[in-house]
Amino acid sequence: MIIYKVENYEEMSKKAASIIASQIIMKPDCVLGLATGSSPVGTYKRLIDLYKEGYVDFSRVTSINLDEYKGLEPTNDQSYRYFMNTNLFNHVNIKKESTFVPDGLELDSDKACREYEEMIESYGGTDLQLLGIGRNGHIGFNEPGPVFVRDTHCEDLTQSTIDANKRFFAKDEDVPHQAYSMGIGSIMKAKKILLIAYGKDKAEAIAKTINGPITPKVPASILQLHNDVTIVADKEALSMI
Ligand code: F6R
Repeated sequence: MIIYKVENYEEMSKKAASIIASQIIMKPDCVLGLATGSSPVGTYKRLIDLYKEGYVDFSRVTSINLDEYKGLEPTNDQSYRYFMNTNLFNHVNIKKESTFVPDGLELDSDKACREYEEMIESYGGTDLQLLGIGRNGHIGFNEPGPVFVRDTHCEDLTQSTIDANKRFFAKDEDVPHQAYSMGIGSIMKAKKILLIAYGKDKAEAIAKTINGPITPKVPASILQLHNDVTIVADKEALSMI
């Protein structure tokens, strides 16, 4: 595990973007596993700058996102497809047909998850998987639980996640209660994992991820078993190490 301790969010974003850019430069037809949320927004902004400055070319890149809310159409501004289009894809030369996000409109969960898993399999997993981390140690939508779930699956969101999401939706009943997520096995198939974290509220999760026991109660702790993990985190997120 390589850990980069940086000063702040901006430095974290620059470092993460340069690692992703090197991956694309070394292997122009690479498969990137991508995440949503507040952590990668700055990384994507920096990648867009690198693209505009001519340092990276996304034309042969494939991207596979971690997760999507079940039931949200791609045009919904809370969907992860919408997030990816507006925060990255619309601003670089990636081919839209080479970008994959679970199909939130497919209400047959088994079908949606099986097809997504087969698609990941057909690419042999990702070359580089970008991850954020939840305060409870979740990665993707793999919430703490009794077991690590291997494949892409439909996750029932915890009440605290549903409550936290209410602020983004016009009505409480609009908040999705389920999401499709890559499983821990799908994430661990990545050749390289890049985890980014900032802020004090991630400190405990980061400490448990790096030093704690490997347990599904802290899903990110499984990363201790991966042989190529890089963590880029600010000093606050690393304050309990
Ligand atoms: C997003 C995802 C989540 C987030 C995590 C951290 O695709 O899979 O695991 O990475 O919830 O979210 P932020 O970055 O908003 O703190």
